Amino acid sequence: MSAMQEEILGLEMLMDDLEEVTLGMRTYFSGRISGIRTILVFSRWGKVAAATTVTTLILKFGITDLIFTGVAGGISPDLRIGDIVLGTRFIQHDMDARPIIAQYELPLHGLTYLEAPAYKIEEGISAIRSLLETRQLHEAISQDELHHFGIEHPRLFMGDIASGDKFFSTEYDKQSLSRNLPAILCVEMEGAAVAQVCYEHLIPYTILRTISDTADENSVSDFPAFIKNVSSKYSLEIIKNFYRLM
Ligand code: ADE
Repeated sequence: MSAMQEEILGLEMLMDDLEEVTLGMRTYFSGRISGIRTILVFSRWGKVAAATTVTTLILKFGITDLIFTGVAGGISPDLRIGDIVLGTRFIQHDMDARPIIAQYELPLHGLTYLEAPAYKIEEGISAIRSLLETRQLHEAISQDELHHFGIEHPRLFMGDIASGDKFFSTEYDKQSLSRNLPAILCVEMEGAAVAQVCYEHLIPYTILRTISDTADENSVSDFPAFIKNVSSKYSLEIIKNFYRLM
Protein backbone atom coordinates (compact mmCIF):
# COMPACT_ATOMS: atom_id res chain seq x y z
CA MET A 1 0.00 0.00 0.00
CA SER A 2 1.03 3.58 -0.71
CA ALA A 3 -0.71 6.95 -0.60
CA MET A 4 0.04 8.09 -4.13
CA GLN A 5 -0.10 6.52 -7.56
CA GLU A 6 3.47 7.65 -8.19
CA GLU A 7 4.61 5.55 -5.22
CA ILE A 8 3.29 2.25 -6.62
CA LEU A 9 4.08 2.73 -10.32
CA GLY A 10 5.63 -0.40 -11.80
CA LEU A 11 4.88 -2.65 -8.83
CA GLU A 12 2.08 -4.41 -10.70
CA MET A 13 4.80 -5.74 -13.02
CA LEU A 14 5.94 -7.99 -10.17
CA MET A 15 2.46 -9.58 -10.00
CA ASP A 16 1.08 -12.70 -11.68
CA ASP A 17 -2.63 -13.41 -12.31
CA LEU A 18 -3.34 -9.68 -12.07
CA GLU A 19 -6.96 -8.56 -11.58
CA GLU A 20 -8.35 -5.11 -10.92
CA VAL A 21 -11.20 -4.37 -8.53
CA THR A 22 -12.59 -0.84 -8.05
CA LEU A 23 -14.30 -0.07 -4.73
CA GLY A 24 -14.97 3.27 -3.05
CA MET A 25 -12.94 5.16 -5.66
CA ARG A 26 -9.82 3.02 -5.12
CA THR A 27 -8.40 0.51 -7.57
CA TYR A 28 -7.15 -2.67 -5.89
CA PHE A 29 -4.73 -4.77 -7.96
CA SER A 30 -4.97 -8.33 -6.82
CA GLY A 31 -2.54 -11.08 -7.82
CA ARG A 32 0.50 -13.02 -6.64
CA ILE A 33 4.10 -12.07 -6.04
CA SER A 34 6.38 -15.09 -5.65
CA GLY A 35 3.23 -17.16 -5.15
CA ILE A 36 2.05 -14.98 -2.25
CA ARG A 37 -1.44 -13.54 -2.67
CA THR A 38 -0.96 -9.77 -2.76
CA ILE A 39 -3.18 -6.70 -3.08
CA LEU A 40 -1.62 -3.46 -4.34
CA VAL A 41 -3.41 -0.14 -3.82
CA PHE A 42 -2.78 3.55 -3.36
CA SER A 43 -5.09 5.20 -0.86
CA ARG A 44 -4.89 8.91 -1.79
CA TRP A 45 -3.55 11.42 0.72
CA GLY A 46 -4.50 11.79 4.35
CA LYS A 47 -5.67 9.81 7.36
CA VAL A 48 -9.29 9.25 6.30
CA ALA A 49 -8.28 8.00 2.84
CA ALA A 50 -5.67 5.71 4.38
CA ALA A 51 -7.96 4.38 7.13
CA THR A 52 -10.82 3.53 4.77
CA THR A 53 -8.45 1.84 2.32
CA VAL A 54 -6.85 -0.30 5.04
CA THR A 55 -10.29 -1.22 6.36
CA THR A 56 -11.28 -2.38 2.87
CA LEU A 57 -8.03 -4.37 2.55
CA ILE A 58 -8.81 -6.13 5.83
CA LEU A 59 -12.57 -6.67 5.57
CA LYS A 60 -13.04 -7.18 1.81
CA PHE A 61 -9.73 -8.69 0.75
CA GLY A 62 -8.89 -10.51 3.99
CA ILE A 63 -5.26 -9.37 4.15
CA THR A 64 -3.20 -10.86 6.96
CA ASP A 65 -0.17 -8.57 6.68
CA LEU A 66 0.45 -5.06 5.36
CA ILE A 67 3.49 -3.22 3.99
CA PHE A 68 3.19 0.52 3.42
CA THR A 69 5.86 2.34 1.41
CA GLY A 70 5.99 6.00 0.55
CA VAL A 71 7.70 9.30 1.16
CA ALA A 72 7.99 11.60 4.18
CA GLY A 73 9.34 14.98 5.12
CA GLY A 74 12.45 14.81 7.31
CA ILE A 75 12.06 16.40 10.74
CA SER A 76 15.25 15.17 12.43
CA PRO A 77 18.27 17.18 11.21
CA ASP A 78 20.17 13.86 10.91
CA LEU A 79 18.02 12.75 7.97
CA ARG A 80 18.97 13.39 4.36
CA ILE A 81 16.81 13.09 1.26
CA GLY A 82 16.97 9.46 0.12
CA ASP A 83 17.34 7.97 3.62
CA ILE A 84 14.77 5.33 4.62
CA VAL A 85 12.81 5.44 7.89
CA LEU A 86 11.35 2.24 9.32
CA GLY A 87 8.60 3.36 11.68
CA THR A 88 8.69 1.75 15.11
CA ARG A 89 6.07 4.04 16.73
CA PHE A 90 3.30 6.18 15.23
CA ILE A 91 1.58 9.27 16.57
CA GLN A 92 -1.20 11.47 15.12
CA HIS A 93 0.23 14.97 15.51
CA ASP A 94 -3.18 16.56 14.86
CA MET A 95 -5.10 14.49 17.44
CA ASP A 96 -6.04 16.98 20.13
CA ALA A 97 -9.14 16.48 22.29
CA ARG A 98 -7.93 18.75 25.11
CA PRO A 99 -9.11 19.57 27.71
CA ILE A 100 -11.10 16.33 27.76
CA ILE A 101 -8.22 14.02 26.82
CA ALA A 102 -4.45 14.63 26.79
CA GLN A 103 -2.98 16.03 23.57
CA TYR A 104 -2.15 13.28 21.02
CA GLU A 105 -3.92 10.53 23.02
CA LEU A 106 -6.18 8.27 20.95
CA PRO A 107 -9.64 8.44 22.56
CA LEU A 108 -10.73 5.18 24.24
CA HIS A 109 -7.44 3.48 23.39
CA GLY A 110 -5.68 5.48 26.12
CA LEU A 111 -2.58 5.31 23.92
CA THR A 112 -0.51 8.09 22.38
CA TYR A 113 1.89 5.99 20.32
CA LEU A 114 1.09 2.80 18.42
CA GLU A 115 4.04 0.44 18.17
CA ALA A 116 4.83 -1.70 15.15
CA PRO A 117 5.07 -5.39 16.06
CA ALA A 118 8.66 -6.25 17.06
CA TYR A 119 9.00 -9.15 14.61
CA LYS A 120 7.83 -6.88 11.76
CA ILE A 121 10.56 -4.40 12.69
CA GLU A 122 13.12 -7.23 12.51
CA GLU A 123 11.81 -8.27 9.08
CA GLY A 124 11.92 -4.65 7.92
CA ILE A 125 15.49 -4.18 9.13
CA SER A 126 16.64 -7.26 7.29
CA ALA A 127 14.86 -6.30 4.01
CA ILE A 128 16.21 -2.73 4.04
CA ARG A 129 19.72 -3.79 5.07
CA SER A 130 19.83 -6.21 2.16
CA LEU A 131 18.69 -3.38 -0.14
CA LEU A 132 21.22 -0.85 1.15
CA GLU A 133 24.12 -3.32 1.09
CA THR A 134 23.81 -3.53 -2.69
CA ARG A 135 23.86 -1.00 -5.56
CA GLN A 136 20.18 -1.72 -6.38
CA LEU A 137 18.99 1.82 -5.73
CA HIS A 138 21.92 3.36 -7.60
CA GLU A 139 21.15 1.15 -10.57
CA ALA A 140 17.41 1.91 -10.50
CA ILE A 141 17.69 5.69 -10.15
CA SER A 142 19.37 7.85 -12.81
CA GLN A 143 22.68 9.56 -12.07
CA ASP A 144 21.00 12.92 -12.70
CA GLU A 145 18.37 12.27 -10.04
CA LEU A 146 20.89 10.92 -7.52
CA HIS A 147 23.01 14.00 -8.11
CA HIS A 148 20.05 16.40 -8.01
CA PHE A 149 18.99 15.18 -4.55
CA GLY A 150 22.54 14.60 -3.28
CA ILE A 151 21.79 10.90 -2.68
CA GLU A 152 25.05 9.00 -2.15
CA HIS A 153 24.70 6.33 0.49
CA PRO A 154 21.09 6.12 1.67
CA ARG A 155 20.86 5.01 5.31
CA LEU A 156 18.23 3.20 7.40
CA PHE A 157 16.78 4.96 10.46
CA MET A 158 14.30 3.51 12.91
CA GLY A 159 12.00 5.44 15.18
CA ASP A 160 8.94 7.63 15.60
CA ILE A 161 6.82 8.82 12.68
CA ALA A 162 4.17 11.54 13.07
CA SER A 163 1.14 11.61 10.79
CA GLY A 164 -1.59 14.18 10.25
CA ASP A 165 -3.67 15.96 7.65
CA LYS A 166 -1.09 18.62 6.92
CA PHE A 167 1.73 19.03 4.42
CA PHE A 168 4.73 20.59 6.19
CA SER A 169 6.33 23.35 4.12
CA THR A 170 7.69 25.89 6.61
CA GLU A 171 10.61 25.85 9.03
CA TYR A 172 8.25 27.42 11.57
CA ASP A 173 5.77 24.51 11.50
CA LYS A 174 8.60 22.00 11.47
CA GLN A 175 10.18 23.57 14.57
CA SER A 176 6.81 23.69 16.38
CA LEU A 177 6.31 19.97 15.79
CA SER A 178 9.86 19.20 16.91
CA ARG A 179 9.48 21.27 20.05
CA ASN A 180 6.33 19.36 21.07
CA LEU A 181 7.55 15.94 19.93
CA PRO A 182 11.37 16.00 19.98
CA ALA A 183 11.89 12.34 19.02
CA ILE A 184 10.00 12.49 15.72
CA LEU A 185 12.13 11.45 12.76
CA CYS A 186 9.77 12.35 9.93
CA VAL A 187 6.28 13.50 9.08
CA GLU A 188 3.72 12.18 6.62
CA MET A 189 -0.04 11.99 6.25
CA GLU A 190 -1.11 8.34 6.58
CA GLY A 191 1.14 6.07 8.70
CA ALA A 192 -0.47 6.54 12.12
CA ALA A 193 -3.94 6.01 10.60
CA VAL A 194 -2.77 2.77 8.95
CA ALA A 195 -1.22 1.73 12.27
CA GLN A 196 -4.47 2.44 14.17
CA VAL A 197 -6.67 0.38 11.84
CA CYS A 198 -4.16 -2.49 11.81
CA TYR A 199 -3.90 -2.34 15.61
CA GLU A 200 -7.69 -2.47 15.96
CA HIS A 201 -7.94 -5.50 13.65
CA LEU A 202 -4.79 -7.28 14.92
CA ILE A 203 -3.09 -7.06 11.51
CA PRO A 204 0.73 -6.97 11.57
CA TYR A 205 2.14 -4.04 9.62
CA THR A 206 5.36 -2.46 8.39
CA ILE A 207 5.55 1.22 7.47
CA LEU A 208 8.57 2.47 5.54
CA ARG A 209 9.16 6.02 4.44
CA THR A 210 11.80 7.46 2.14
CA ILE A 211 12.75 11.06 2.87
CA SER A 212 11.64 13.14 -0.13
CA ASP A 213 12.08 16.61 1.40
CA THR A 214 13.05 18.40 4.57
CA ALA A 215 9.51 19.49 5.58
CA ASP A 216 10.42 23.17 5.20
CA GLU A 217 10.35 25.83 2.46
CA ASN A 218 12.32 23.50 0.11
CA SER A 219 9.52 20.91 0.21
CA VAL A 220 7.51 22.78 -2.39
CA SER A 221 10.07 21.89 -5.06
CA ASP A 222 11.78 18.78 -3.61
CA PHE A 223 8.59 16.82 -2.88
CA PRO A 224 7.07 16.92 -6.41
CA ALA A 225 10.43 16.24 -8.07
CA PHE A 226 11.10 13.25 -5.80
CA ILE A 227 7.59 11.90 -6.30
CA LYS A 228 7.80 12.25 -10.08
CA ASN A 229 11.16 10.61 -10.65
CA VAL A 230 12.40 8.66 -7.65
CA SER A 231 9.74 7.42 -5.20
CA SER A 232 8.38 4.51 -7.27
CA LYS A 233 11.94 3.21 -7.72
CA TYR A 234 12.42 3.10 -3.97
CA SER A 235 9.05 1.33 -3.50
CA LEU A 236 9.89 -1.25 -6.17
CA GLU A 237 13.34 -2.04 -4.78
CA ILE A 238 12.03 -2.14 -1.19
CA ILE A 239 9.21 -4.54 -2.12
CA LYS A 240 11.57 -6.78 -4.11
CA ASN A 241 13.66 -7.18 -0.97
CA PHE A 242 10.63 -8.01 1.17
CA TYR A 243 9.62 -10.76 -1.25
CA ARG A 244 13.30 -11.77 -1.65
CA LEU A 245 13.14 -11.26 -5.40
CA MET A 246 16.79 -10.20 -5.54
N1 ADE B 1 5.19 13.58 2.86
C1 ADE B 1 6.33 13.90 2.21
N2 ADE B 1 6.75 15.14 2.52
C2 ADE B 1 5.85 15.63 3.42
C3 ADE B 1 5.73 16.85 4.11
N3 ADE B 1 6.63 17.82 3.94
N4 ADE B 1 4.67 17.01 4.94
C4 ADE B 1 3.76 16.01 5.10
N5 ADE B 1 3.83 14.84 4.46
C5 ADE B 1 4.87 14.63 3.63
